[in-house]
Amino acid sequence: MNNQSQYYTRTAQWLHWVMAIIFIGAWLIGFFSGNFLSYETDGSFKGNVITLHKNIATPIIFLIVIRIFWRYTHPTPELPATMSPLMKKLAHLGHLGLYFMLLAVPITGCLYSWSAGHPAPVLYLFEIPRLVQDNPDLNAIVKPLHIYLSWAAGLLIVGHVLAALKHHFVDKDNVLKSMTRQND
Ligand code: HEM
Repeated sequence: MNNQSQYYTRTAQWLHWVMAIIFIGAWLIGFFSGNFLSYETDGSFKGNVITLHKNIATPIIFLIVIRIFWRYTHPTPELPATMSPLMKKLAHLGHLGLYFMLLAVPITGCLYSWSAGHPAPVLYLFEIPRLVQDNPDLNAIVKPLHIYLSWAAGLLIVGHVLAALKHHFVDKDNVLKSMTRQND
């Protein structure tokens, strides 16, 4: 392995950390709204929190397209040789699962919003053009789908963070550093 392939590119690192902050922030706000606020008692506050949730979450859809393009057009560091083939396979499957969630969670969120007759706004700047209109039948499917997928994504992220910490503090290898450092 040469020096160049020890670390992710600066752009890949930037995309990773910005998307992590947005996704976890959106997750916490959605969780707070979905489980601690109700329209009966919190009225417009709940509406504002959901609007915030949507506005910060939708950029993930644009960023994941750039990220997938970047992933397949740039080299990535190899996993440590000390990892068994099974662990390497599990790591790749976990990463694939995370990419899937980064697409599926915001897309089901938009479908959930549109099918309930609401917009999918981006950073309070513009709205994503509606791909579906008011549709209670679709809403009955995508609403639970968004919630279950967001919970599954939360579990995957916890596993991902724990694995990164184990690499850093127990195995003391280069895995976490590959996402935080550069050669220079
Ligand atoms: C980036 C990704 C996103 C994450 C991680 C995420 C996560 C969540 C979570 C954890 C919940 C609460 C689930 C529960 O009730 O237990 C939720 C609810 C919700 N999400 Fe998302 N979401 C994302 C994107 C979106 C997008 C793009 C939209 C719409 C444009 C959206 C619309 C909603 C709505 C309407 C709710 C229901 C909130 C409530 O009833 O109070 N989400 N989301």
